[in-house]
Amino acid sequence: MKTKLGIRLSSIFNMIEGANHNIWDLCCDHGKLGLALLESHKASKVVFVDQVSSIMDDLSRKIQKIKDLSPKRYELLTLSAEKIQLEDQSLICLCGIGGDVAQTIMAGIIANNDCRNHQFLISAQYHMYDFRKFLISHDFKVLNEELVFEGKWGYELLLVQQGNGKQVDSIGRGLYDEHSQKNRKYFANIINHYKRRLNQDKSHAEALELYEDLVK
Ligand SMILES: C[S@@+](CC[C@H](N)C(=O)[O-])C[C@H]1O[C@@H](n2cnc3c(N)ncnc32)[C@H](O)[C@@H]1O
Repeated sequence: MKTKLGIRLSSIFNMIEGANHNIWDLCCDHGKLGLALLESHKASKVVFVDQVSSIMDDLSRKIQKIKDLSPKRYELLTLSAEKIQLEDQSLICLCGIGGDVAQTIMAGIIANNDCRNHQFLISAQYHMYDFRKFLISHDFKVLNEELVFEGKWGYELLLVQQGNGKQVDSIGRGLYDEHSQKNRKYFANIINHYKRRLNQDKSHAEALELYEDLVK
């Protein structure tokens, strides 16, 4: 693989099994994930999507310089990710955004497409309780999940599909590891966040109670 990936993107890359997927790299920015998937042939085709046209212009220049990469293997769309139209069975990667943005994008995709044949690989930060509840309410099930750390930040990775797999847990109980200091700190930060927010918004009490129960 020529494109170098950091810890978070490598973990996302490794969660994608097999080959010949039709893959979407939504909110692609630098496009590193999609490029690595093309170079490794884990993806037969990658559709790169970002809403910022200058980002897509840079990526277009970069991708055209890759030797022996057939233009049939990629597509570049300057578009709000919520507007994509899914056709063939696909894996949709949605990484490097906040949980609130992930929810808005997923809601748009669900409204415009029948998603049952497609898998979603999401790596979002913050608002994960609300995002997980959103997934539960839309019948998404977990095929795989992981908590990875890059520097001091933790990222929840979720591979999900509608109607297929394990129940999504609203606080990601399966990710908690009391033996890891970084892991404990990740959950402690969430608890502190909800404690601070509770003064302004009592609706956070439910999430706070669940997270506090988990780390007891
Ligand atoms: C931090 S980058 C993430 C890059 C890469 N996916 C990663 O995980 O490293 C976030 C990108 O999301 C794009 N973005 C945010 N909201 C979007 C939306 N609704 N539709 C398309 N792109 C969006 C931004 O333009 C930005 O380039």
